[in-house]
Amino acid sequence: MAAKIITVANQKGGAGKTTCCLQLAGTLARRGSRVLVIDADPQGTAVRWAASATDDDHPFPARVVSLSAAGGKVHREAKKFVEDYDFLFLDGPPGMDSTVSYSALLISDLALMPVIPSPADLWATTGFQKLVESVQPINESLQARIVVNMSQHTTLARSALEVLENFGIPLLHTRLGLRTAYRQSAAWGCVVGDQGQEAKIAATEINALLDEILVVLECGSPNRG
Ligand SMILES: Nc1ncnc2c1ncn2[C@@H]1O[C@H](COP(=O)(O)OP(=O)(O)O)[C@@H](O)[C@H]1O
Ligand SMILES: [Mg+2]
Repeated sequence: MAAKIITVANQKGGAGKTTCCLQLAGTLARRGSRVLVIDADPQGTAVRWAASATDDDHPFPARVVSLSAAGGKVHREAKKFVEDYDFLFLDGPPGMDSTVSYSALLISDLALMPVIPSPADLWATTGFQKLVESVQPINESLQARIVVNMSQHTTLARSALEVLENFGIPLLHTRLGLRTAYRQSAAWGCVVGDQGQEAKIAATEINALLDEILVVLECGSPNRG
C-alpha cells in the first residue's frame, strides 16, 4: 500500500515543525513501520538531527533525506518514495506562501501545524488555514490538524488555547509541554522514547499524539511497540 504522507507546516519558524516531525517519525519507526523523513527546509535541521546520532549501534530510527533542492517540485520527488515506505513525513520550511509547502500539501494526507499558544503564533495560523483551503479542491483527501506545542499552564496560554479551539482547523487533544527532553533529542540524534526515565512524560506525549494522528489517518488500531 502507498505510504501515508504527513506534512508538518507553519509559516512561523521555531514553532516546533522539525521537533514534531522527527519525534513522530522516529517513534513510528521504533514501533516497526517503514518511515522516511523528507527534509524540505534548506536549513537542513532534520538531516542534522539524524546525523547527530554518532553511535553506529543506535542510529536515528527513521531514514532522513534532503529534498530541499526540489523546491516547488518536492511533491514529484517525494512521490518516488511512496511505494517503499509506510509513512512519509515532510518537514517544511517556514513561510506559508512558499511553493514548497503548497507542493508538499498536494500529495499529503495530513497537514499538521504545531502552534505555540502565544499571540504572535496565533496570528500565523490564518495563513495555514488559507493554504490548506487552497489545496483541498485539488487534493480532496487532505486533512489538517493543529498540535499545541510548548504548552504551559499560564493565563496567556489558556486564552490562546480558547482562540485555537474556535479556529477553523481541529485541534488534537494531545499537547506537547515545554520540556528539555525535546531539545536533547536533537542533540543526541534520537527520539524522547530513547532517553529513559527523564524523558518519560515527553515520550508519553509523543506516543499519545502519534496514536491520535494514526486514527485521523485511519491506520487502524495503533500498534504500540
Ligand atoms: N515542546 C518543546 N519543548 C522544548 N523545546 C522545544 C519544544 N519544541 C521545540 N523546541 C525547541 O524549539 C526550537 C525550535 O523548534 P523546531 O522544531 O526547530 O522549530 P521549527 O522547525 O518550526 O523551526 C528548537 O530548539 C527545539 O528544540
Ligand atoms: Mg525546522
